[in-house]
Amino acid sequence: MGENPKLTIEDFEKATSNKELLEIIREKNIPIDKPMNKIFYESELKKLQIELVKLQKWVSKNNKRVAIIFEGRDAAGKGGNIRRFTEHLNPRSTRLVALTKPTEVERGQWYFRRYIKELPNPGEIVFFDRSWYNRAVVEPVMGFCNEAQYDNFMVQVPEFEHMLYEDNMVLIKFWFSISKNEQLARFNSRLETPLKRWKFSPVDRMGQELWDKYSHFKEQMFSKTHTSYSPWITVKANDKKVARLESIRYVLSQFDYEGKDEALTTVLPDPNIIMRYYRSA
Ligand code: ADP
Ligand code: AMP
Ligand code: MLT
Repeated sequence: MGENPKLTIEDFEKATSNKELLEIIREKNIPIDKPMNKIFYESELKKLQIELVKLQKWVSKNNKRVAIIFEGRDAAGKGGNIRRFTEHLNPRSTRLVALTKPTEVERGQWYFRRYIKELPNPGEIVFFDRSWYNRAVVEPVMGFCNEAQYDNFMVQVPEFEHMLYEDNMVLIKFWFSISKNEQLARFNSRLETPLKRWKFSPVDRMGQELWDKYSHFKEQMFSKTHTSYSPWITVKANDKKVARLESIRYVLSQFDYEGKDEALTTVLPDPNIIMRYYRSA
């Protein structure tokens, strides 16, 4: 008959979330234009942010300590993602940790020391824009640490994280994954856009050239620091918006906080986007 596919009342009744509605739209092959996509994204983000506010209340009331690590290559979208998480949270019990390179004194200390100081207090959610995992990837790739420091670190990480686990601190480790072409496109846009230029650093410049070296250390990191008590969660991040929604969904799925929206929580993170690292044989 060649009829145009369209949404029905039944579709709206069936869908318990925007995400499900979006799936129906895709199944029915209804074209989605850019503005429509934006509307879906923004309304879904708002709902998830409301859930984050509830989660924060619960964390605060129950004196939980939550640390969420954002790792990934340069331009993977770590900072932008964190901003969507924290946008509507109470700054009093939320902290962002984005440490600069270590000072001379810090270089003489036990590597973990400056990060330990930043771990969450009771009732706090702390977001790490990069973390101790600098020593697993950026530092060896760029030559900021020596081989002995690197080896030592790789042995200590699982022990360190096990202690945090035994002490009931919740640690979520995200790796935002982008393709080589996507990184190049984002670097170019940083250089072209005055408001983004500050983000472009000498370290970034090396991201493309040293792509394979980064890959090597990333693989080592996964295979040596992915543990049952502290797994790596990889996020496919070539699509920034999808990565933001799904990573928030993942965090929400890890807690049984009060007033959890049943409709939203039944929608688990998309397994095509959010994956637990799978150790290959
Ligand atoms: P970002 O991607 O966080 O904006 P950069 O790309 O400039 O920052 O650097 C990546 C990471 O490498 C940062 O965490 C930074 O602190 C770290 N770093 C940069 N220079 C050094 C150094 N000389 N020694 C150790 N770490 C460094
Ligand atoms: P590359 O020169 O990057 O191909 O590295 C060769 C090997 O040397 C890698 O497999 C690493 O295990 C090791 N390596 C190179 N640089 C470092 C470093 N700074 N710290 C630890 N290991 C390193
Ligand atoms: C990064 O991942 O390098 C930045 O934090 C990305 C961003 O904020 O867009």
